[in-house]
Amino acid sequence: MKKDFLCLSDWSRDELEAIFALTLDLKARQKRGEEHHLLRGKTLGMIFEKSSTRTRVSFEVGMYQLGGHALFLHSGTTQLGRGEPIRDTARVMSRYVDGIMIRTFSQAGVEELARWSDIPVINGLTDSYHPCQVMADLFTVVEHKGNYRDQVYGWIGDGNNMANSWINAAAVFGFELRVATPKGYAPDPAVVERARKAGAKVLYTHDPREAAAGATVLNTDVWASMGQEAEQQAREKAFAGFQIDGKVVAAADPACIVLHCLPAHRGEEISDEVIEGPHSVVFDEAENRLHVQKAIMATLMA
Ligand code: CP
Ligand code: NVA
Repeated sequence: MKKDFLCLSDWSRDELEAIFALTLDLKARQKRGEEHHLLRGKTLGMIFEKSSTRTRVSFEVGMYQLGGHALFLHSGTTQLGRGEPIRDTARVMSRYVDGIMIRTFSQAGVEELARWSDIPVINGLTDSYHPCQVMADLFTVVEHKGNYRDQVYGWIGDGNNMANSWINAAAVFGFELRVATPKGYAPDPAVVERARKAGAKVLYTHDPREAAAGATVLNTDVWASMGQEAEQQAREKAFAGFQIDGKVVAAADPACIVLHCLPAHRGEEISDEVIEGPHSVVFDEAENRLHVQKAIMATLMA
C-alpha cells in the first residue's frame, strides 16, 4: 500500500520520529558531502497553484541530492488549470512520475489527488494544513532545545493552516500548545476537537501574553495568508497587538526560541528586532525544510 503525507494526524508518533531520525542522518551526510542517492532515477512532480520560494526550492534541490529529479508544474500552465479533472491528472501523472508534491487551496482536492494516484502524494501547503513545515519546525526545536517533549509552545497570530498543523502535532506528539488568536480568527474547530479527543493539551486564548508566558518556543505566521490578500486591511486592524515583539519575548522563557515559517511581514506578526534578534532561529528552520522533506520523500518513495 502506498502512503501519502497529507496531514500529520494520519501518522503515528513512532512513524514521524523515524522521519526525524532519517532527517538527522541525511542532514549529516549532506554536510559531510557524502552521496546519499536514496531516490536514484526517481522523479517528483511538483504541482503549484500558489506561490512559493522555500517549498519549491527545497523539494527540487532535495530530489537532486537524493539522486532523483523534480518537475515544476505551475497549475496555470498545465491542463489542471484549464479544468482537467483531478482524478484524470492523478492517473496520468502516476504513469510518469514516482511521487507528487502539491501546493493548492483545498485539502479535499489534495485528498482526491491522493485517492486517484498510485504513487505517494505530499501536501506542500493547503488552506487547511502545512505538515512539512511543522515537521521542519519540530526538527529545529530538537536541534536547539535538545527535545520537543519538554517544551511549552506558544502560537500567536492567525488560526490558519500553520496553526491547524501545530494543533495536529500537539495531539500526535503529546506536547503543550497555547494558541492566541484575535476573536473571529480561531483555528478550525474540527481540528481542535479532534486533537482534544486524542488527548492533546491545547489552550486557546485571545491574550498573546497568556500564550507566551513561560513558553520555550514562540511561533507565528502572517496575518493574511495566500488567498486572503483582499482581507489584508481588515486583518491589520483585527490583529493589532498580536505581534511577537520584545515584550512578548520577555514574557516567555529567557532561553526561548522564535520560529516563523517565512515569508515574514516585519512590523505585523513579528517585529524586526525579534526576527533579527538572538532568539530567532528562522533560517535554521527554513534550511530544515530541505532535510526533513528529503526524509519524507525517501520514506514514501524509496
Ligand atoms: N514556508 C513556506 O512554505 O515558504 P514558501 O511559501 O516560500 O514555500
Ligand atoms: N499561512 C501562510 C503560510 C505560508 C508559507 C499561507 O498560507 O500563506
